[in-house]
Amino acid sequence: MPFYHKLGKIPPKRHTIFKKPNGDLYYEQLFGTIGFDGMSTNLYHEHRPTQIKSVKDPYSIKPKIAVENNIKSYRFRGFQTVPAPDFLESRKVVLTNSDCSIALAAPQESMGDYFYKNSDEDELLFIHKGTGKLRTHLGNLDFKYGDYLLIPRGTIYKIDFDDEDNRLFIVESNRPIYTPKRYRNHFGQLLEHSPFCERDIRRPYELETNDEKGEFLMKIKKQGEIFDVTYATHPFDVVGYDGYNYPYAFSIHDFEPITGRIHQPPPVHQTFETDAFVVCSFCPRLYDYHPESIPAPYNHSNIDSDEVLYYVDGDFMSRNDIDAGHISLHPSGIPHGPHPGAVERSIGQTKTEELAVMVDTFKPLKVTEEGMKIADDTYHKSWLDENHA
Ligand SMILES: [Fe+2]
Repeated sequence: MPFYHKLGKIPPKRHTIFKKPNGDLYYEQLFGTIGFDGMSTNLYHEHRPTQIKSVKDPYSIKPKIAVENNIKSYRFRGFQTVPAPDFLESRKVVLTNSDCSIALAAPQESMGDYFYKNSDEDELLFIHKGTGKLRTHLGNLDFKYGDYLLIPRGTIYKIDFDDEDNRLFIVESNRPIYTPKRYRNHFGQLLEHSPFCERDIRRPYELETNDEKGEFLMKIKKQGEIFDVTYATHPFDVVGYDGYNYPYAFSIHDFEPITGRIHQPPPVHQTFETDAFVVCSFCPRLYDYHPESIPAPYNHSNIDSDEVLYYVDGDFMSRNDIDAGHISLHPSGIPHGPHPGAVERSIGQTKTEELAVMVDTFKPLKVTEEGMKIADDTYHKSWLDENHA
């Protein structure tokens, strides 16, 4: 996050002697991205964070591709994704390209006797169902329905779920995920026209410091494979840190929609950005107030981006036969727009309760085998007039 955060105890100066009560040194680590050029955090460990006991041969979790080059619109019934006890095993990549992957997960249990680190990608977890706690080496965050959890690459984490009915929509990004630059001033402060502000960003609040030694399994994702690495010291042994690189939470319910007299374009809903895709939040809002306005979107060709919509809650005005948990994919190369009757239906309506997350990728997405298991292969014909169907 582009604002400063401090948790636990740190010495007054960077890179200077910092002693434990018994006189031994704490061990400093710079945790950053984009070499030394991106956001970073300076953290202090009980033990050297480099003590590895063993490394097993990796196994691949690369998604299997079903449709390499796609020009069909698809609907995926997300809640048909089969739940699994383990968080990592429950994650099913539905869509993917060389920049990002879009996955669904229905984990039934808290993460077991291991820690997880994704060294390839930033992870954006959207909590559709479930409550619990994200535990990281940089502190903990409570989560509930509607929360985005932004976990920067390299963050060591575990997730505790309060019960077994959990549904997550996940974006994994090879590029760092930021909030949109146009909402921030030269100093990084969020501007008045931003649909959210610093008060809406929840930072880690609870640092777990465990100085245990022993055997600690960390599953590390690297280049699409998982390495089981056994550490000799507890991965949560940080006594304090400060900086800009840390996980945070933002609730979609704290997004303040920008509305207008006539239909506003999707960028007003933008919540996160990378240089390869954007994430938007469609939230309950008043409709356009020009007396002749058409609240439904116009047909449009995002000729160079694929549009993914994850439907969370409410009534989806522009779509027929779409339920919570569904994903629609409207690929680049063809126009898309409201379903038959949706434009007419929208006229005169004053507000919407729709809640959805949109991911627009600049490179085309491939459909995976897991995606095809929950795909509606007739959706691309659902815009036909009845007499053509
Ligand atoms: Fe669109």
